[in-house]
Amino acid sequence: PGGHTADLVVFGGTGDLSMRKLIPALYHCDRDGRLSPETRVIAMSRGGLTDADFRGKVDAEVRDQVPVDDPAMWQRFLGRLHHVSVDVGGTDESGWNAVSALLAGHESRDRVFYLASPPRTFGPFCRELAEAGLVTPRSRVVLEKPLGHDLPSARRINDEVGAIFDERQIFRIDHYLGKETVQNLLVLRFANAFLEPIWNSLWIDHVQITAAETVGTPGRRGYYDHAGALRDMVQNHLLQLLTLTAMEPPARNDREAIRDEKVKVLQALRPITGTEVDRFTVRGQYTEAGDMPGYLDEPASTAPTEASRRVETFTAIRAEVRNWRWAGVPFYLRTGKRMPYRRSEIVVQFKDVPHSIFPGGTPNRLVLRLQPEEGIELHIMAKEPGAGEVTPKPVPLSLSFGETFTARVPEAYERLLTDVLAGNPTLFMRRDEVEAAWRWIDPILDAWKDDPTLPEPYQAGTTGPAGAHELLGRSGRAWHEEE
Ligand code: BG6
Repeated sequence: PGGHTADLVVFGGTGDLSMRKLIPALYHCDRDGRLSPETRVIAMSRGGLTDADFRGKVDAEVRDQVPVDDPAMWQRFLGRLHHVSVDVGGTDESGWNAVSALLAGHESRDRVFYLASPPRTFGPFCRELAEAGLVTPRSRVVLEKPLGHDLPSARRINDEVGAIFDERQIFRIDHYLGKETVQNLLVLRFANAFLEPIWNSLWIDHVQITAAETVGTPGRRGYYDHAGALRDMVQNHLLQLLTLTAMEPPARNDREAIRDEKVKVLQALRPITGTEVDRFTVRGQYTEAGDMPGYLDEPASTAPTEASRRVETFTAIRAEVRNWRWAGVPFYLRTGKRMPYRRSEIVVQFKDVPHSIFPGGTPNRLVLRLQPEEGIELHIMAKEPGAGEVTPKPVPLSLSFGETFTARVPEAYERLLTDVLAGNPTLFMRRDEVEAAWRWIDPILDAWKDDPTLPEPYQAGTTGPAGAHELLGRSGRAWHEEE
């Protein structure tokens, strides 16, 4: 069972991402028989832990997050874990020597270097890795987002990593691509005959892509002040959802064929520049409400600065894809912290019937829900039962993954780690994709930087600032809200 034997080296291996997502996902892979018996996980950090310390930490922090039905299996899993302290960017080479010693004699294994660390460390890490002679032909490197903070910095990182690894060895993560519904979008669109003929501007009025979260940013100000919603969520997750919704049918279910089509969508995005930024984008920042603090009052190790006051915790954008299929169809994107619900979804709003013979009526809508409950809903019109006047009523045809398929829905990271270990890059971003996304984002960032006004305030627990509603309202449209 479990495919190739691999050594998975996680840099930032004791950090938040590792302890909350990667280690639990690896445990699930192990439990499902998808890790070969010899596969090892080697965490690297500055922490100075021994293998035993690290296993103790995982036992204390991860065991409660996962189902442990067989204690012996859990112990076997812990036995795969190792820890090495490495001083990346420093002068002490003892850490790298320890990694070399651990990997020596295992050159024929797949070697995966997972960088769960800030992007500025990607280049130095790869360089030191190469200097230590640890990059084999069977090596891969996994890069966590954010990949830079604008196009030039993304290019620099891609150049630095590309100096050591071939593009086919580089796996850039966007964990949204690991979500079941996101992969299902391709099956829904390209394994069913009825959607494709109406999947265009003749039949679709507009598309809404929302990623709403109830959480704020406690303890994350250091990162978030310099990221903001546009870099943190739109450049990657929301644009990925947009590309999968808008792409042309690929000729094959093949890594390059799919990614080629996605890049074409990003390249077709109409640039939003200069004064248009004000018309087509909205920035918001949450303020205190009840027991929820405002962004500036979130617990943090440092006091808020000018950057904190200017950063957006919410953004909404009206995007357009300039090609034959989508001409004139707005794609509205929105994401925010401290909204009233946690919900990620793609809403495809169809046009009204060409000629209505019934009173009233609501145009059809297809909702693809990524979370909280993964599912698909098609809102159709049906006759309300009764002997009186015929009145159409919107009713949902719905598919809940949880109810229809009894298998456990895996976490995004399980799918992605399985693919990395198998060497399948389809669900990872290619260099040109990441750069095309930044190319569209950069002019918006520039215009915001030059804009003296602050983000529009919205109360914590509400659906964002007034501007977000006007963005759709001025063309007679409205955001799809919880029903
Ligand atoms: C991350 C962002 O990439 O995605 C976080 O950095 C955000 O700010 C998270 O909370 C959302 O992921 P999910 O899977 O909970 O929608």
